[in-house]
Amino acid sequence: FHVDWDVSAAEKGGYEHFMIKEIMEQPKALTDTIKPRIQDGEVVLDDITLTKDQLEKVDKILIVACGSAYHTGIVAKYVIEGLTRKPVEVDLASEFRYRDPILTEHTLVVIISQSGETADTLAALRYAKQQGARTLAIVNVVGSSIAKESDDVIYTWAGPEIAVATTKAYSCQLAVLYLLGVYVGRQLGKISDEENLGMIRELLALPEKVATVLEKKEDIQYFASRHYADKDVFFLGRNLDYAVCMEGSLKLKEISYIHSEAYAAGELKHGTISLIEEGTLVVAVATQDRLFDKTMSNVKEVKARGAEVLGLTTEHNTRINETTDFQFYIPETLDIFLPSLAIVPLQLFGYYMASMKGCDIDKPRNLAKSVTVE
Ligand code: G6P
Repeated sequence: FHVDWDVSAAEKGGYEHFMIKEIMEQPKALTDTIKPRIQDGEVVLDDITLTKDQLEKVDKILIVACGSAYHTGIVAKYVIEGLTRKPVEVDLASEFRYRDPILTEHTLVVIISQSGETADTLAALRYAKQQGARTLAIVNVVGSSIAKESDDVIYTWAGPEIAVATTKAYSCQLAVLYLLGVYVGRQLGKISDEENLGMIRELLALPEKVATVLEKKEDIQYFASRHYADKDVFFLGRNLDYAVCMEGSLKLKEISYIHSEAYAAGELKHGTISLIEEGTLVVAVATQDRLFDKTMSNVKEVKARGAEVLGLTTEHNTRINETTDFQFYIPETLDIFLPSLAIVPLQLFGYYMASMKGCDIDKPRNLAKSVTVE
C-alpha cells in the first residue's frame, strides 16, 4: 500500500499556490492584528513606549520602507496626517538614506518591513537613530534585525508569508498604520468620542468585509481570463485610490510580467494618455466618494480613446456602469479604510492573470522575498 503525499501541497493547504492561500488568509490575519489592540472601545498599543508627552512634541512623522511596504506608507501619509494633524512624509528607504533628510529628536521615523531584514530599510533605521530621531518599526518577522534595533516595534500578526509577492503582510501593515493613526490622533485629542466609536466599529468589521470581497473572486478570475494575454495595463485613481493603484500595479507586474503603471488620474493628461489605444486595459479605482466624478471624467477620456475599463468602487456607486465596461463592487466602510478592501480584488487580479499565463507565481523571476543587499 502506497500513499503519494506531496509535502508542498500539504503546506499550501489545498491551494495551488502560497500566494492564493495567503490572499485567502487575510480575514484571519487582519483579525489577529486588529482585535487584540482594541480594548473597551479604544485602540491600545501596549507594544509601544512612546508617551503622550513625547507624541505631543513630535513635529514630523517620516515613514520609510521599500516595495509594497512603501505603498502602505503612502496610504498612511494621507490617513495619519488627517487623523493626527501632524505632517507626514513618506520615503523609499533607498532614497531616504542619501537625501540628507532633516531629522531631530522630535521626528518620529516609522519603518515598515515584512521581513525586518531589507538592507536599505535597516540602513535607514540605523541612520535615523544615529541622527537622534525616535524610531518605531512595523514588522512581521518576530526578532528580525529591524524589530530588534528599533526603539519601538508593533508586530503585524500576519503569520509566515511564503509567496514572494506580499499580500497578507501588506494588509496587516495597513491595519497597523490605521491603528497607529487612531491611537496617536486620540492621544493628541484630535479624534472625538463619536469619531473614535465609528472608526473602532469599522476596524473590527474589516476582516469580515475582506471575506465578502474574497467570496467574489470568480468575478475577477473571469475578467482575468479575458485579459491575461494583454501587454500593458494602466491603473488610475486619485488620493487613497492612487496609493492602492500603485500596489495593484506592482502585484500584477511582479508575478505576471505584464507591463503596468499606476497613475494619479489627474496626471493622465500629462503623459500616460498618449499610450492609450483601442483595447488598452485600464483599471479605474474610484472608491473615494468625493473624488468619484473627477475620476470618472478621466475614465471618459480613456474610453474615448478606445480603452477597456474595469471600474472598482463601493456598492452604492452603481452609476460606474455608465462609464466602465466591467464593474467590481466592494462593501462600504469609512473612506480611510477603503484601501484595505480595494486592494483585495487587485491582488486577485494579479494572481489570476499570472496563473492563466502559467507563471511561477510564488517565485517570480529575478525577485526575492527579502532583499538583503543594496
Ligand atoms: C521585496 C519583496 C516585496 C516587499 C519588499 C520589501 O521586494 O518581494 O514583497 O514589499 O521586498 O520587503 P520588506 O520585508 O522590507 O517588507
